[in-house]
Formats: sequence, structure tokens, C-alpha cells
Amino acid sequence: MNKHNPFAIALFVACIISACSNNNVDEELTLSREISKELGTQLKSKLVSTMQSSGPDAAIAVCNLEAINITADISDKNNLVVGRTSLKIRNPANKPDAWETKQLEWFESQLASGVDVKTLEKNEIVKEKGKKIFRYMKAIPMQEPCMLCHGEVISTAIKEKINDLYPQDQATGYKVGELRGAFTIKIEM
Ligand code: HEC
Repeated sequence: MNKHNPFAIALFVACIISACSNNNVDEELTLSREISKELGTQLKSKLVSTMQSSGPDAAIAVCNLEAINITADISDKNNLVVGRTSLKIRNPANKPDAWETKQLEWFESQLASGVDVKTLEKNEIVKEKGKKIFRYMKAIPMQEPCMLCHGEVISTAIKEKINDLYPQDQATGYKVGELRGAFTIKIEM
């Protein structure tokens, strides 16, 4: 019997520690995936229904996370921050930070090497101001209903409205299947 074998004990302790921390990351990852999925679905369906009922002018206000209740709810409840970002932004408030830029560039390189944009995600634990933060990003693919306001050909009426609201807009010229941007989530651990 090697009941007191220090190696066995050390291995046992190491297993417990790694299992615990893995569990924690699993939880954050599951939550982040759920949030991104929910936001992606809500955003698209709300855009489509508003465009059908009230036209594209009204829908311009919809492509904004604040127009979607779930974000505020989740952000209040949990110790997390949810947003959207892109390498070509419309709203300067959505500008990526250094970590986000790195992931977006990695998404672009993956996409260029043939990986399906729908599967692209990234998570990492980082230290920020002495705090441990779980960071997550999920790619947002360019889809058909997005073309009206982010595509290659945009009507003059919509262009004018967008330019009024976002004079520094860069978020046009996309094709379906390209990377429009990403959901970005931070959870304090
Ligand atoms: C009716 C016009 C319209 C449509 C359709 C539209 N968007 Fe947008 N989009 C906007 C506006 C306006 C903003 C700026 C929102 C803000 O102030 O945060 C925006 C911002 C974004 C952003 C945040 C990054 C940035 O550029 O500031 C992403 C990501 C995005 N849109 C993705 C999509 C996707 C994906 C679709 C299709 C499912 C879509 N949009 C359809 C008008 C539109």
C-alpha cells in the first residue's frame, strides 16, 4: 500500500485544484456562450421584425445592444459586462481594446484559412488591475438581413441617416459570410 506516498498525495491535490478551476472556467464559458447565442438570435429577429413593421429607418435604432433588454438584465445580475466590437466600427463607443483587436485579427486569419465563421470563439483568463477576469469573444457573421445597413450597396436614404448619427462610420462594404464583428464578454472571477 502506498497510502502515504507523497507523490500520490501531490497528484491527488493537483487533480482537485485543476478540477475546481476547470469547473469555474466551464461555468463562465457556458454562460458566455448562452449570452452570445441569445443576443445573436434576439438582435436578428428584432431587426427583421422592425424592418417589416416600421421600415429600415426605425430599425437603425435596433442594431444597438441597448435596444435589447437581455443585456442590461444580465449585466445587472452577474458581475459581467457584455458588448459588441469590430475591426471596422460604426459607433466609436464599440472600439476594440488591445485584447479584442488581437482576437478579431485571429478570427480573420482563421476565416481566411477556411474555418467557418459561425464556429469562431475565444476565451482567456487575464489579470486586469490586480483582478482575475474571464474574457470571451464570439464571432458575429455578416448575414442577409444585415446587408441593408452594412453591405456593399446602401440606399441613399439609409446612408444619410447613418452618416448623421455616425459621421465616422466604417461598418459598410461587407459580404454575407464575412466577419462583421464579435460579442465580447468580461466576467470578474
Ligand atoms: C437598419 C440598419 C441596420 C441593420 C439592418 C443592421 N445594423 Fe448593425 N448597426 C447599425 C447601427 C446604426 C449600428 C451602431 C449601433 C450603436 O450605436 O451601437 C450598428 C452596429 C453594429 C455592430 C457593433 C459594432 C459597430 O460597428 O459599432 C455590430 C457587430 C453589428 N451592427 C452587426 C449587425 C448584424 C450582424 C446585422 C444583421 C443581423 C446588423 N448589424 C444589421 C445598423 C444596422
